[in-house]
Amino acid sequence: MSADQVFSPGLAGVIGAETAVGSVDGAAGRLLYRGYPIEELVTQGTYASVVDLLLTGEWHPNAELTPVSVPPTVLAALRLLPAHAHPMDALRTAISVWGAGERLGWPPTAEEAKRIIAFAPSALAAFARLRQGLEPINPEPGLHLAAAFLQQLHGKTPDPATARALDAYLMAGAEHGLNASTFAGRVIIATRSDIASAICGAIGAMKGPLHGGAPAEVIGQLGEIGSVDRAEDWARGKLNRHELIMGFGHRVYRAYDPRAAALRKVAEAMPNRPDWLDLAIGAEEVILRVFEEMKPGRAMKTNVEFYAAAVLQGVGLVPDLFPATFAIARIAGWSAHAIEQAGVDKLIRPDARYIGHAERHLPG
Ligand code: ACO
Repeated sequence: MSADQVFSPGLAGVIGAETAVGSVDGAAGRLLYRGYPIEELVTQGTYASVVDLLLTGEWHPNAELTPVSVPPTVLAALRLLPAHAHPMDALRTAISVWGAGERLGWPPTAEEAKRIIAFAPSALAAFARLRQGLEPINPEPGLHLAAAFLQQLHGKTPDPATARALDAYLMAGAEHGLNASTFAGRVIIATRSDIASAICGAIGAMKGPLHGGAPAEVIGQLGEIGSVDRAEDWARGKLNRHELIMGFGHRVYRAYDPRAAALRKVAEAMPNRPDWLDLAIGAEEVILRVFEEMKPGRAMKTNVEFYAAAVLQGVGLVPDLFPATFAIARIAGWSAHAIEQAGVDKLIRPDARYIGHAERHLPG
């Protein structure tokens, strides 16, 4: 490392890529996919049209994406997993096994991405059933991806409003600039590796609790809080003990995360409004106030995971499926970035500042 090189821990503030896929304005709390605001997409679009937008760059409101059954080799591999396997590991395994059978090349294509997006929810639902000792079921013809996911998970056709809520969640989670998992995927594609490898790497990055693991913990937190009048003591205790409050804070946003705002509206409109949604809304207000008081220098706001937890719980998912459902949504963004990165065709290879021993020598 030379004297004029800048060291930025966590690469914060470093521009690592140019992208036309998504734009995140952390100060203003704005998120655009290919130029379109997330609020408009979530209210007027469908997940299929958002996938198409991210992959093609253009808005085709009637774009379709047909859910497909789990490929036989993938299903065989899922049957070998122990019931205690993390659903993120099951999803990563499913995509890895699929990729191994596909002779995937480079550069990655939108067609490959759409094929992964079409079977990934089926694979996650199959694993969720297998681990309960139930047989996987095929997607019902005519259902969109979110509806077919719920149908394959629960064994019955979901009502349209519930399916629509999950579709909205998938749209809100589909893309978010150069976040940790997208960066991981771009690093992999930049070596001229294939799309399945990039998505498997991205899933690994998203599995961590600081990234995609947060919403499951939001449910646990609300259980600890119990009622709004206890939220203040609970939040103060967490911050006094220097513990993280999940669903708050963000590397980029200093304003309210627009995805959290969109998903709060979705959660409030759900037919099976979760019992604890009122607790979540009340606790959020208190927690934000405590942050303001105890971390005054830092604009700490609600992030997407807080209300993602509400929607996912409301559509009947158990908490350990939350991160993998987020990953399914994000395959769209990861793939769009993978295709874009391949167009740049430049290896990503930052330097490290060496802080180890000076040169030394073995005794003999
Ligand atoms: N609860 C309590 N304190 C927090 C929180 C939080 N949620 N977030 C940040 N802080 C504190 C940090 O401890 C640190 O305090 P210090 O300066 O006294 O050491 C200060 O705020 C600055 O935080 P950083 O860690 O520098 O923030 P960074 O940008 O690196 O991290 C992150 C962002 C990882 C999201 C962080 O806010 C966090 O851990 N949040 C909780 C987990 C979460 O909700 N993750 C989901 C993010 S959204 C997504 O990935 C889709």
